[in-house]
Amino acid sequence: MRMLSEYSRFFREFRRDFHHTGAILPSGVFLARALASGLRGPRTSARILEVGPGSGAVTRVIVKRMQPGDCLDAVEINPRFAQLLEHRLQIDPSLRGNRDQIRVINAAIQEVPGESQYDFIISGLPLNNFTPDEIQSIFETLTRLIRPDGLLSYFEYAFIRTLKSGFVGRQERQRLQIIGKILDGYLHKYQVRRNHILLNVPPAIVRHLRLKPTTGESSSNLVS
Ligand SMILES: C[S@@+](CC[C@H](N)C(=O)[O-])C[C@H]1O[C@@H](n2cnc3c(N)ncnc32)[C@H](O)[C@@H]1O
Repeated sequence: MRMLSEYSRFFREFRRDFHHTGAILPSGVFLARALASGLRGPRTSARILEVGPGSGAVTRVIVKRMQPGDCLDAVEINPRFAQLLEHRLQIDPSLRGNRDQIRVINAAIQEVPGESQYDFIISGLPLNNFTPDEIQSIFETLTRLIRPDGLLSYFEYAFIRTLKSGFVGRQERQRLQIIGKILDGYLHKYQVRRNHILLNVPPAIVRHLRLKPTTGESSSNLVS
């Protein structure tokens, strides 16, 4: 029942604000697990930033992997999603036990102040919907906010730019090409790992990047 109401809520926001929502449905559990995979295993306590939590599908998996001493800031541009998440923190059994460790911030990520604060950034932003300028400013913001050696994990739907390019006009094709180039530039320099998630609608690729590497870890594009 919760799933149904979450899906219909998400679909409503998709229709109301396609640019920012970017998907018909919330992420599936396999995608959410891959996005939060950096939090697994023994580690010291961490500051975690989730960008674009939406209805909380990925938040729930992040929370499962949180340790005592961790804290999570969830930054959401859509006030209705931010309100929904605040509400879920009070009533959802998988979230409410950790609600003292979680802050929901209703803002665009580009407005979040500060520098080198987060060990992990997990992003659900629909990058393919954005203009090249938006992508640049988002990546500049994430680079500013992440700590040296911090891990950024984000996803994109597999082949979506190539598939879309066949059906759209020249201007849109150009936009997709430019954002593809910007993203490839970041991946080439900073990607340390990627996961192919076939069990998602649509299939997705999760990218893990160290935007401020301090060690010799290479961008080997390892598939795991
Ligand atoms: C594709 S949905 C992902 C939702 C959720 N993480 C999931 O995977 O199911 C993208 C989310 O990013 C939010 N968003 C879009 N642009 C944003 C921005 N500049 N700052 C913060 N949130 C943003 C949208 O409102 C939406 O909730």
